[in-house]
Amino acid sequence: MGFVVPAVGVGLAAAIGIAAYSYSVGASKEKAKKSSTPSKPTGPKVDVYFGSQTGTAEEFAKSLAKEGIKRNFDMRAVDLERFEGDDMPGQAAIFLVATYGEGDPTDNAKASYEWMKSEAKQGALEDMSFAVFGLGNTQYEHYNSVGKFYDSQCETLGGKRIVELGLGDDDQDIQEDFNNWLELLWPALDAHFGLESHDVADSGGVEYRLQVETYPTEKAARKLCGAGGVASSSAIDHQATVGMTVTCNRELYSPEAGRSCRHVELDIAGVDSDYITGDHVAILSDNNPELVASLARRVGADLDEWVVARDEAGAAPFPCPCTVRHALTRYLDLNGALKRRQVAALAEAAGDGAERERLERLASKEGKDELHEYAVDGRRNILDVMRDFPSVDLKLSQLVELLPRAQPRYYSISSSNLTHPSSVHVTAVVVRDEMPDGRVFGGVCTTYLNGLPVGSRVTAFCRRTTFKLPSDPSTPVVMIGAGTGLAPMRGMYLHLDRLRSEGAGMGENMLVFGCRTSKDDFLYSDEIRSMVDKGTLSHLVTAFSREVPGQRPYVQHRVRERAADIIRLLDGGAHLYVCGLTAMAKDVKRSLSQGLEELKGMKGAEAEAYLERLHSEGRYMQDVWSS
Ligand SMILES: Cc1cc2nc3c(=O)[nH]c(=O)nc-3n(C[C@H](O)[C@H](O)[C@H](O)COP(=O)(O)OP(=O)(O)OC[C@H]3O[C@@H](n4cnc5c(N)ncnc54)[C@H](O)[C@@H]3O)c2cc1C
Ligand SMILES: Cc1cc2nc3c(=O)[nH]c(=O)nc-3n(C[C@H](O)[C@H](O)[C@H](O)COP(=O)(O)O)c2cc1C
Repeated sequence: MGFVVPAVGVGLAAAIGIAAYSYSVGASKEKAKKSSTPSKPTGPKVDVYFGSQTGTAEEFAKSLAKEGIKRNFDMRAVDLERFEGDDMPGQAAIFLVATYGEGDPTDNAKASYEWMKSEAKQGALEDMSFAVFGLGNTQYEHYNSVGKFYDSQCETLGGKRIVELGLGDDDQDIQEDFNNWLELLWPALDAHFGLESHDVADSGGVEYRLQVETYPTEKAARKLCGAGGVASSSAIDHQATVGMTVTCNRELYSPEAGRSCRHVELDIAGVDSDYITGDHVAILSDNNPELVASLARRVGADLDEWVVARDEAGAAPFPCPCTVRHALTRYLDLNGALKRRQVAALAEAAGDGAERERLERLASKEGKDELHEYAVDGRRNILDVMRDFPSVDLKLSQLVELLPRAQPRYYSISSSNLTHPSSVHVTAVVVRDEMPDGRVFGGVCTTYLNGLPVGSRVTAFCRRTTFKLPSDPSTPVVMIGAGTGLAPMRGMYLHLDRLRSEGAGMGENMLVFGCRTSKDDFLYSDEIRSMVDKGTLSHLVTAFSREVPGQRPYVQHRVRERAADIIRLLDGGAHLYVCGLTAMAKDVKRSLSQGLEELKGMKGAEAEAYLERLHSEGRYMQDVWSS
């Protein structure tokens, strides 16, 4: 990686007489000159469609298109919302599509998904050639089902496959999966179009190519990027966020629990946001100020300086100009475990031979397990790694290149719009790991939430889900949740309780809840017991996994024990809700399946079909996340 002061930055800075410190990462003077007179690619046209919710597929699509242009393809990244299947004569399309919910497409992929599923005529895509990379996570039951759907459906509709389906697993290293697939894609594209194979230099481990400049004053920075500044292309700025005011932030666990779970109430009165029971709220948190300050110090950056960053297409990863403090606090993921490509870049920046060698080993394919142990099990963020390798000399510009963009954290709203129309409740367990060497790892968002005083403002937005109560309140519901998986169930029982108090008849409602002990982490226990007393809940089933020595009951065990009641309710039309970690949801499903086999004499496949039918009828809903 070479570092040069790009001609444009110096020239302008000199012309306006200010101190500008600028770096162009990974670009030589020669390359910079070439890129100033870009020629339009003359090769085949290829559209890269992205179906993305939190920006990964979009990021991949943009970097793929950029790489394609270097290889002379007329390639561009296109929002899948703009896909017009009926109008694809002779085109090549690459689909990078993420899976959400219970095997559902992202919001921007819904229209094309539906079109391919039910509207497209036989042979509709026979003039199109295609390649698909799915983005998913093996923790989820419907692993990459949307990617698989696009791949098979494009073929069914007559499309010609350019390369085998690629699958990325966000539970492991999705960037590496993508890179591996690209190694197959490029030669396949060349072969498909009958081109000579292209050989393009490796991008050197960085995420996107940026020109980053800092200025002592806002005025100076604005001189470079114009009075209006440069709009941010960050996914977090493309959401309709609002400022929600914290009106309550209290502890839910007992002091003996040794852990913390916060009940946070966010006021949405007077702001343009609403929700329905069962929705999610997405929170954009600030990074820990100490981490921000230490990292800035380590890369020699002044937090109060103004920064302008743009990629080759002029897009900015954060609104420009902004202070270095704001960029590091809000827009970059400073705390995540490092991936191989980032470690490779750190190795390049290491001055000491032994350190470089060690980092190269960690970044190598062979060193994958060592890196996992060091970075993931060891809970090390980029600052921890730079402390362990003091000869790594990284500048702010490289840091901005290396770090992924910050992502919002989603929470299942734990209030009901009937009982709390102007307040969103969040029930969040604080991520805090004490490491053997004395370091304390804190989760980004929950550490932020934990420290929020009443009166502070949180940037957030509500997101609709399909996790909804039946329209008839007398329809029985079975709610199964472990830990903070109780959150949406709380919204639901509060909702039902309000309807009951207004005279609605209640169905036979059951709550199955699991935590460690009845005293330390039984969330909202008094409220739940009152729901039983009032008849809103007919059954309360608890699983305390650490109450009785030698016994470890979890919700899935209780589901197994109470299978007769649950199946009776389901046969009678009940709706079933499961919320919590993906692993728990899988175990609950297995217990239900076993119950059906034992009590109804079903074979495995029949039990599976029974549950699948519930799912397709919207009577088996899951709100799950991976750990
Ligand atoms: C739809 C949905 C609903 C959800 N609802 C709830 C809810 O109601 N309540 C709730 O408490 N949570 C909920 N979650 C989870 C929540 O979104 C967050 O993931 C959770 O609060 C942790 O966020 P954090 O920023 O504090 O932790 P993060 O900083 O994101 O860390 C989370 C985990 O990532 C790993 N990790 C991160 N950085 C590193 C590193 N440097 N090294 C090693 N490992 C690392 C660790 O395993 C860590 O525990 C939900 C998630 C989804 C998707
Ligand atoms: C709430 C939620 C639900 C998800 N559901 C699934 C799923 O059903 N199947 C799957 O393979 N991956 C699932 N994932 C993983 C995402 O598809 C994966 O993280 C992907 O990289 C996201 O891409 P994006 O950032 O472009 O939206 C889910 C992720 C979240 C946060």
